Amino acid sequence: MKRCSIIIHSVTGNNYIIATHLEALLEERGIEMRLYRTEDSDLHISANKYESANEYYEEILNVPVATVEKLEKSAMIVLGCPTYFANVSAEMKTFLDSTVDLYASGALEGKQFACFTSCGDSLQDAHMTLEAMRRWAIQMKMTEVPTGDLIHISGEEGRIRPSLDFGKELEAFANKLAAAIEEP
Ligand SMILES: Cc1cc2nc3c(=O)[nH]c(=O)nc-3n(C[C@H](O)[C@H](O)[C@H](O)COP(=O)(O)O)c2cc1C
Repeated sequence: MKRCSIIIHSVTGNNYIIATHLEALLEERGIEMRLYRTEDSDLHISANKYESANEYYEEILNVPVATVEKLEKSAMIVLGCPTYFANVSAEMKTFLDSTVDLYASGALEGKQFACFTSCGDSLQDAHMTLEAMRRWAIQMKMTEVPTGDLIHISGEEGRIRPSLDFGKELEAFANKLAAAIEEP
């Protein structure tokens, strides 16, 4: 069975919510799933400051931390990251930078790739975040699954959670990933 790993950074929980739903959808479609998070040494500070960050704090901490080795074992890698100043977060960038040896060895070449983001209010910023994740995948010579752009808009302090309509978009996204990973 081919493995798909989802790697997220999430502070106020939205990317975490999307990732856990995506994990369930892909499991239902017979795919071996793993969910990992990036390291985040400041998470407890945000959880003390924002109700929205407190809500999923323990659940996020329970997600195992991503390692370079986990990427190597995956046929498909999905990144999920908040839009921070029209880019990926520092935590996600630090994780991506830690994969430099895989760039040198070409270990991710040909693996399938997809990504999503949650942003406050700017689709333009979110597109740039998706592009930043795609640039990493291009550098790694991965193959992007043509899913279209999956963007969640969360409003002030990330309080607007993914809706049922967003869930339908996520299901279409999952269907495309499932079809791609099953290709010989
Ligand atoms: C440091 C910081 C920078 C942000 N920059 C942007 C931005 O440039 N554009 C935007 O639309 N939202 C921005 N946001 C809002 C987040 O993208 C949004 O709250 C997102 O839902 C957080 O994802 P999470 O709930 O998974 O942590 C920013 C939030 C923070 C904390």
